[in-house]
Amino acid sequence: MAGTSRTRVQHFAVSLDGFGTGVGLSREAPFGHAGHKLHEWMFATRWGRQMFGQEGGTRGIDDALVRQFSHGIGAEIMGAGKFGPPGWHEDPDWTGWWGANPPFHTPVFVLTHHPRPPLEMEGGTTFHFLDAAPAEALAAARDAAGGMDVRIGGGPSMVRDFVAAGLVDHMHIVVVPVLLGRGVRLWDGMESLEDRYDIEMVASLSGVMHVMLARTGG
Ligand SMILES: NC(=O)c1ccc[n+]([C@@H]2O[C@H](COP(=O)([O-])OP(=O)(O)OC[C@H]3O[C@@H](n4cnc5c(N)ncnc54)[C@H](OP(=O)(O)O)[C@@H]3O)[C@@H](O)[C@H]2O)c1
Repeated sequence: MAGTSRTRVQHFAVSLDGFGTGVGLSREAPFGHAGHKLHEWMFATRWGRQMFGQEGGTRGIDDALVRQFSHGIGAEIMGAGKFGPPGWHEDPDWTGWWGANPPFHTPVFVLTHHPRPPLEMEGGTTFHFLDAAPAEALAAARDAAGGMDVRIGGGPSMVRDFVAAGLVDHMHIVVVPVLLGRGVRLWDGMESLEDRYDIEMVASLSGVMHVMLARTGG
């Protein structure tokens, strides 16, 4: 079964100048000076609106693609910078941004140099805190995923680390038409990635560009 499990980055948003988050991250600003700019396209979809208990929303390619978020996923790995704002590890009560019932509904492995005991949430999400190399974290996530795919959840630093280690099979990156100027870049260190991945780009009527990178021969 393990041979069929893929590692996927799912609708990871970057600005036109390649930033996956801004500067000045805090509890009040999970994306720093980027605010909500990187994800407005997603919240405009029918799926995005449903996530917040609202009706309506677009039903085109953006909606079709964000619906792949959970499809076939058995576990996620995320970086400490996604789990909480700088310094979250000093707060024993911090349980992530997502409330009592996070939207993952699988085991989630949080890579951090400040591990703590697992945190079982409502709805099937359990956060496991791991101080481990990417390959070791992936092995743990694969075990937990029961043959399903593992989502590489971000932020940009850990996605870069997993790509550099050759551990990512598929990436869906969404290029958003905003310029952040500052922040954490996704593409740094990925020179000539097109030699290792088949890349297709599709423009949505919403203005974002969906970039699909599939590992060659995968
Ligand atoms: N654009 C998007 O679609 C998207 C998606 C997800 C998240 N984000 C945003 O991205 C930002 C966070 O990204 P980021 O690049 O700053 O950080 P990140 O990739 O989430 O996390 C990096 C941190 O994780 C820990 N870590 C990573 N690898 C490790 C390893 N092998 N062993 C132990 N610890 C390890 C380290 O933190 P410690 O040393 O502190 O433990 C490291 O500084 C947030 O603003 C988040 O909201 C954006």
